[in-house]
Amino acid sequence: MELRKLGRTDIEVTSVCLGTMTWGQQNTEAEAHEQLDYALDRGINFIDTAEMYPVPGRAETQGRTESYIGSWIAARKNRDKYILATKVTGRSGMTWVRKGNVSQTRHTAAQIDEAVEASLKRLRTDYIDLFQLHWPDRGLPGFGFDSYYDYDAQDMEPLEDILGALSRQIEKGNIRHVGLSNESAWGTMKFLELAERAGLPRMVSNQCVYSLVARRFDYDRAEIAMREDVGLLAYSPLAMGMLTGKYDDGGSPKGSRGDLFPQFLEGYKSTEEACLDCNATARKLGLTPTEFALKFVESRAFVTSNIIGATTMSQLKENIDAHEIDWTDDMEAEADRLHKTYRCPASR
Ligand SMILES: NC(=O)c1ccc[n+]([C@@H]2O[C@H](COP(=O)([O-])OP(=O)(O)OC[C@H]3O[C@@H](n4cnc5c(N)ncnc54)[C@H](OP(=O)(O)O)[C@@H]3O)[C@@H](O)[C@H]2O)c1
Repeated sequence: MELRKLGRTDIEVTSVCLGTMTWGQQNTEAEAHEQLDYALDRGINFIDTAEMYPVPGRAETQGRTESYIGSWIAARKNRDKYILATKVTGRSGMTWVRKGNVSQTRHTAAQIDEAVEASLKRLRTDYIDLFQLHWPDRGLPGFGFDSYYDYDAQDMEPLEDILGALSRQIEKGNIRHVGLSNESAWGTMKFLELAERAGLPRMVSNQCVYSLVARRFDYDRAEIAMREDVGLLAYSPLAMGMLTGKYDDGGSPKGSRGDLFPQFLEGYKSTEEACLDCNATARKLGLTPTEFALKFVESRAFVTSNIIGATTMSQLKENIDAHEIDWTDDMEAEADRLHKTYRCPASR
């Protein structure tokens, strides 16, 4: 398993990261533990979660994913064997994530402090390696991007205050490094500039959607990743399953994400034609659609790690195996053709 530097830290993470957001909704605690054991056995050293998981975010289930990881950490006593990443919820109406009476989840110092303490408790650990801002505190649409509409720039937590709160958590030893998620090019550069100017923590990564059919990152943040070492932690590399071929006939297999939570695939409606072409191209290249899609993401120079997700052990095995193929010039040429044909069809 290939190791890559996490930002400008001395940490090396595997180029494949284990995603967790189905645990506590589609997957039981025992299944979560089985996935964790297997992934570590296969050499993966990077785990990604969030305080709001599982998805869809609901008051009744919130925190279950971290608790399942916590019971595994307590049972295995192997905390030094992996890099653990979690996230504080961005601006939203999911107020159940907080104990106190808040009208929105925000990145205020008080909410960041509460989020860190609650995650540490659920995860049953005394430190988080990578603490990420799940999506911006300001009115920028982190998900479902189509056209740019401006927001009230006065109505946002000052970025230096966010960095200040994160800095105090690092001083306490609760978190080691900080990262972004669903952050724009402007936001990324602004966080870096403020950190440098005021001696505050430097963001080490940006976790964003990325796949053969969701390539907005290429257009702006890829260059930042390369020049500034704020690498991409790519999520939804299979376009939520569309790039496995299982939706090719237009239906949703029973029990799949498309069947259970069709709202999640909404942003991929516009990708149907592109996905069919990606999957047919994979087969022509002698690959499975999953292999082509996952290896494409991992082979980008600006990607630090590819966050995979699975609801069954056979999916997990296939997804880890997919990274073992060699990425060839023919595959690159086909990925390029697909991009030039469809550009960036996902509204994600
Ligand atoms: N920062 C963010 O805002 C954000 C957003 C989304 C995700 N994430 C992170 O990224 C991780 C991965 O995201 P994702 O789940 O959207 O990734 P994905 O790889 O695009 O989709 C994974 C889903 O596709 C299906 N699948 C996976 N492998 C398969 C296979 N080999 N054959 C057939 N179906 C397969 C499974 O769903 P079904 O079996 O239910 O169909 C699985 O849950 C999450 O767990 C989370 O840690 C972060």
